Parts: sequence; structure tokens; C-alpha cells
Amino acid sequence: MKRIALFTSGGDAPGMNAHIRAVERVGEKRGLEVIGIVGGYSGMIAGHFEPLDRIRTANIIDRGGTILKTSRCEEFLNEEGRTRAADQLRKHGIDGVIACGGDGTFHGAHALWTEHGIPIVGTPGTIDNDLAGTDYTIGYDTAINTAAQAIDKIRDTADSHGRLFFIEVMGRHAGFIAMDVGIACGAEYIAVPETMTDIDELYRRIVTQGRDKRTVVIVGEGDELGGALGISKEIQNRYGIESKVSILGHIQRGGSPTVRDRVLASRLGAASVDALLAGRSDVMIGEVAGSVRTVPLEETWATRKPVPGYLMELATILV
Ligand code: F6P
Repeated sequence: MKRIALFTSGGDAPGMNAHIRAVERVGEKRGLEVIGIVGGYSGMIAGHFEPLDRIRTANIIDRGGTILKTSRCEEFLNEEGRTRAADQLRKHGIDGVIACGGDGTFHGAHALWTEHGIPIVGTPGTIDNDLAGTDYTIGYDTAINTAAQAIDKIRDTADSHGRLFFIEVMGRHAGFIAMDVGIACGAEYIAVPETMTDIDELYRRIVTQGRDKRTVVIVGEGDELGGALGISKEIQNRYGIESKVSILGHIQRGGSPTVRDRVLASRLGAASVDALLAGRSDVMIGEVAGSVRTVPLEETWATRKPVPGYLMELATILV
């Protein structure tokens, strides 16, 4: 293996730059040429390849976003798009690929391996933390800290006015962000996609808290009642209670990565280069109980990663 390529894909996550830096540095140390694919799968299809070196990857470890850019690529969902991408990889003499992203990225990576035999290793880069095979994904720790800071600010105003707030956090199908920040910010109720939201129970909590008191409810965006807006409408319709809705949105994806994210991104970046050199493919490199683990890509999406039971329990006893 002489030349490897690296790309970031799907929703960007803080720590992706630290990951790019680690792959470049370790690749260089192992005598490899490291190429960056610009713009995820779209850039792969279009042939946007750029050589990476120490200078290009200097001073990025603390930066949010991804210097390699990213995309959600419709074209890659078709066989024709994937064939064009594989042709580009061959044309550029790429011997192995590192794909940093979430489950959509991994589905694509799996197809590149099974349909075209391109050696490819995935690394978990998503704020959602919804990939099985790793305790944490790159970007998650920064996202929960960003969300917690924003929620603390909203609590101040909620407290001053004695208002009911529904605050929506990201996590397309998973409640990890909602559960962690809900507990960290002392929420009165946490609604996640993993469990059915019980409006009557929520009402009881609001009443117990006292209608003249601050009540903060954290809602995962994937909640079945339609996120924070949906729940607030339901409470209004059923019980005539007014509330404020705040959707934190993409603020959670940006910003300088935390130390934990920088270290995780660097560790998995280094391990992914070594995995390619060891002949591994169609696997994700994750971290479980402090150790680097390798799992087949298919396993990362086949089993739903559960929100830890102790968090669910805490959420019910701490309110
Ligand atoms: O997968 C990360 C994520 O931020 C999800 O939490 C969210 O549902 C989604 O991406 C939003 O994606 P986009 O920015 O493409 O709308």
C-alpha cells in the first residue's frame, strides 16, 4: 500500500479536522502518500482529490467543521455513481480509503468494497453517537457541551419568567444528545425517540413543578410527536398550556472540538491507517471501554445502539 485517500462525509462533526491531521501524520510516518478527497462522495465522483501534507494539516486540530468539506450525495446511492467513484479512485492510484462519517457514509463504504473491491475503513464521525461498535463518536462530546451551554442560558430566562420551555436538540433517530444534556441541565422531562412520549405524564410533571416555576423539557429531534414544536402543540391542545420553543439546530455541529473529541479523533485516525496497512477492509475502527476495536461496517447500523439504561433511569429519578 503506497497511496491512501481520506474523506469526511455526511453531517460534519467537531474533531473531523483533528482526525484528518492524525491520518496525514501517521500516514506520512508509515511512508504513505495521503490524498484528501474534497466534498465527500460528491468529490470522489467528481475527482476532487488533493495531496495532504504537514503544512496543509497544520493548525487545524482546534477547528470545527472539516477542511475536506462534506456532502450528502444522492448520486452515490446509485450503482452508476458508485462506479464513477471507484473509477476515480483507481485513476488516482488509491490503494485504500478512510471514510469518516455516520451510517450513510458507512453504507456507501460497504458498497465500494463489495461492488468494487476498494479497501476501505470507516471511522465514526457524527454528533449523533448512534453507531454501534464504539462508545462514542467523534463530535459527540463537543455537541453535548455546546448544547448544554445553550440550555443553561435558556434556563436563566425560563427561570426569571417562570416559563415552560421545550428545547429541541439534534439526533435524527437517537436520543443520546437529549438524554445526556437533559440530565446535565436538570431538565424536568426528557423526550427521546427510543421511548414513547407520554403527554399526560409530561403534564403531571409540569403541574408538579408548579405553573409559576421554570420548567425545561429537552426533546430529541426524532421524537415521535414531531419534535419540540409537536409536543408544545400537543400540550397546548390538550391542556391549554402556553410554552416557548427553542430549536438549537446546527449550532450543535460547529465550534472548536473538546479535548475528548480531539483525542478520540486522533486515536481513531492513527488506528485507521494501521488497519488499512494490516489489510483490513469493510470495518469501522471504534473505541470500546477505552480500547480500540474493529467491527464489520454492517454491524454498525444493523444493531441499534441503545441509550445506556442508567441514563434512562437517572432521567426518571432525578426529576
Ligand atoms: O447526523 C447529524 C445530524 O446533525 C443530525 O443530528 C441531524 O438530524 C442531521 O444531521 C441534519 O442534517 P442536515 O444538516 O443535512 O440537515
